[in-house]
Amino acid sequence: MINGSTKLICLIGQPVEHSFSPSIHNTLFEKYDINSKYICFDVDKDCLKEAVNSIKALKIKGSNVTVPHKVDIMEYLDEIDINAKLIGAVNTIKNDNGKLIGYNTDGIGFVNSVIGKGYKIQDKNVMILGAGGAARSIAVEIANNNAKSIEIRNRTLDKAESIAITINENFKSIVKIGDINITKEDLENIDILINTTSLGMSPHIDKIPIDDTINIDKDILVCDIVYNPKETRFLKWAKENNLNTLGGIDMLINQALEAFYIWTEVKPDRECLYEVEQLRF
Ligand code: ATR
Repeated sequence: MINGSTKLICLIGQPVEHSFSPSIHNTLFEKYDINSKYICFDVDKDCLKEAVNSIKALKIKGSNVTVPHKVDIMEYLDEIDINAKLIGAVNTIKNDNGKLIGYNTDGIGFVNSVIGKGYKIQDKNVMILGAGGAARSIAVEIANNNAKSIEIRNRTLDKAESIAITINENFKSIVKIGDINITKEDLENIDILINTTSLGMSPHIDKIPIDDTINIDKDILVCDIVYNPKETRFLKWAKENNLNTLGGIDMLINQALEAFYIWTEVKPDRECLYEVEQLRF
């Protein structure tokens, strides 16, 4: 029940109508008996500064940030977590008694999904398809978890190079870059293969970021961050090759669990979210 002590957590983005975050966080607030509510604010680009000031003025406890504000919002915050700085984007804000601190939980969400599936990142060879914002957040956290090597393959090589420079300057993982045309030989030493491109995302569900006539005869964990549809053509290809897979819903859930922890200092159990229909995992 909402009363005089109810605290607010919000999402700042545009559009926000289809976000899963209110269902996730309001379910968790109820489960953990926390007197907070989560709602979404549709914020125009030219109102971003005022929106951030409102977090302070209204003592909103925290916020998620989504497209198109993840980068621009950084200049209005008081402090940015070190990895969010390297990622160059913020998806979570904590209001720490009037000081707004920015974090990025996307990459951590991905890493926790891999670990939750029983895999390790340390000393593994990872290939990332794509070099957009999601790829950057995943690459930074994978390097932070001591992957042996990270190969970034993208249509636009400049973007892959920019991520490679960040990893080289800040972490020990070996980084390689290349184009998006993957051969069977390219995958010979890969342990974890991740699609971060938008290929296969609804409504273009017929698209796939790999030649699906390639047959794999070694153990690779194949991950897709696309969560709509839950099973992409890329994941179907992996299953046909008897490979283990990880879908985008997992990362979505885990980035939210990490944000919830930042706001509340409660480490939520993901099983609490089983009843959230949109997420059904
Ligand atoms: P996000 O923030 O979700 O990562 P993004 O920054 O727009 O989104 O990145 C989208 C990724 O999908 C990029 O790597 C993009 O490749 P380019 O950097 O070359 O644009 C990739 N992508 C999108 N459409 C593609 C296509 N038709 N073929 C290959 N890659 C594509």
